[in-house]
Amino acid sequence: MQTDNSDPPIVYDPGDPATMANPFEIYDQLRKHDPVHWSPALNSWVITRYQDVRAVLTGQDMTVDRLTPFYEKLPPKEAEVLREIVHYLNLWLAFQDPPSHTRLRRMMRTAFATPLIHEMRPDIEAIVDHVIDTLDGRDDIDFIADFALLVPAYVIMDMLNVPRDMLGDFKRWSDDMATFIGGARNVGDKYNRAARGCNAMVGYFRTILENHRANPVPGFLNDMVNSGEGDDRLSDDELIATFILILFAGHETTTNLIGTSLLGLLQHPDQMALFKSDPNVTDSAVEEFLRYDGPTNALVRNVAKEHTLHGRTLKKGQRVFLMMNSANRDPAVFDAPNRFDITRSPNRHLTFGQGVHTCLGLQLAREEGRIAVRRFIERYPDVTFAGPDSFDYIDAMVPRGLKRFDVRLRP
Ligand code: HEM
Repeated sequence: MQTDNSDPPIVYDPGDPATMANPFEIYDQLRKHDPVHWSPALNSWVITRYQDVRAVLTGQDMTVDRLTPFYEKLPPKEAEVLREIVHYLNLWLAFQDPPSHTRLRRMMRTAFATPLIHEMRPDIEAIVDHVIDTLDGRDDIDFIADFALLVPAYVIMDMLNVPRDMLGDFKRWSDDMATFIGGARNVGDKYNRAARGCNAMVGYFRTILENHRANPVPGFLNDMVNSGEGDDRLSDDELIATFILILFAGHETTTNLIGTSLLGLLQHPDQMALFKSDPNVTDSAVEEFLRYDGPTNALVRNVAKEHTLHGRTLKKGQRVFLMMNSANRDPAVFDAPNRFDITRSPNRHLTFGQGVHTCLGLQLAREEGRIAVRRFIERYPDVTFAGPDSFDYIDAMVPRGLKRFDVRLRP
């Protein structure tokens, strides 16, 4: 299917290694020639223009509820294995449309309010400095495993009163759950694994809640437990589901932001020089890191009501990929969109989403990004690529980021 019938059809294969390394060329073609593209490989629509992505996210023709139709089609044995995980995922506000979404979102607003996030700044600085200190004496590191992964993990664990030495367990449980949530292919026994991870995580958070109630301490967890008014409180299951959501929504995304920030700066030495010489560019630099090769490659929706877009008929139940990293390079909105410019202004990227589901953690993510990248480069101003083949992108359609990034800390 294609708008311009004289050209050969555009083949978009997100799993192709060349596309993974640089998806931006094919996004350019799709935006120009086939902005509402049907992908047989994905069995889904792929929407690439800024205004269309924005309109979908702020409109009412799509739903975020992808779980119910999936679960209804499962054979009874598999449905039983996944019963608990689906119960908790169904409580995520990320998978709910208004009005149930509106209630949950209202409850969570206090805990995520901007002044409270600003109060966390000294804690984030201390975490970043602590992780940087652990690198002392080393010449080469994997920037992802040794830095970018640890900072957001410790921030979220501290928010949820999870001791830092639980990181290994949490990583295992969330990796297990991700075999289902991330829709991983080729993972043997993936539903049982996901169910085991969910069971362990739920059990652990139930204990955290009991301990907190026995001995309450002020902070994010306390704000979440006490959110709501009168009789309308978050139930224990809603709280546990939300803690798991925060862990998923706030960890890998922020790791990916920190990872591609350093990559962008190392790939553009003039911008690195500017970043080092002028601390005042930090805020606009983080916005450019979020836009240029941001952590939200795509968002997923299902069509709720049949409608047409650019002459295509989107039928109820069909899946839609909204390509955020394509929208963020749309020349209709951004001047010289392929230029990496850490002073870019305005910079209305869509990396935190749009509409009712706009990221709740965006202040926190920005704060983490600013502190982590600035402090790392202050401590290691001569950081360079470790060699010619020093990074790999994650093999995934929705998140975007590096799974490995070998860097040399000093000349
Ligand atoms: C750079 C880091 C981050 C990026 C790029 C990011 C991006 C996003 C995006 C695009 C959405 C909307 C999803 C949709 O519409 O389907 C979202 C939702 C959400 N994010 Fe983030 N996020 C980041 C960090 C965080 C952090 C640190 C937290 C919390 C600790 C967080 C919590 C949430 C929550 C709770 C939602 C669901 C909001 C809702 O459905 O109403 N995020 N995020």
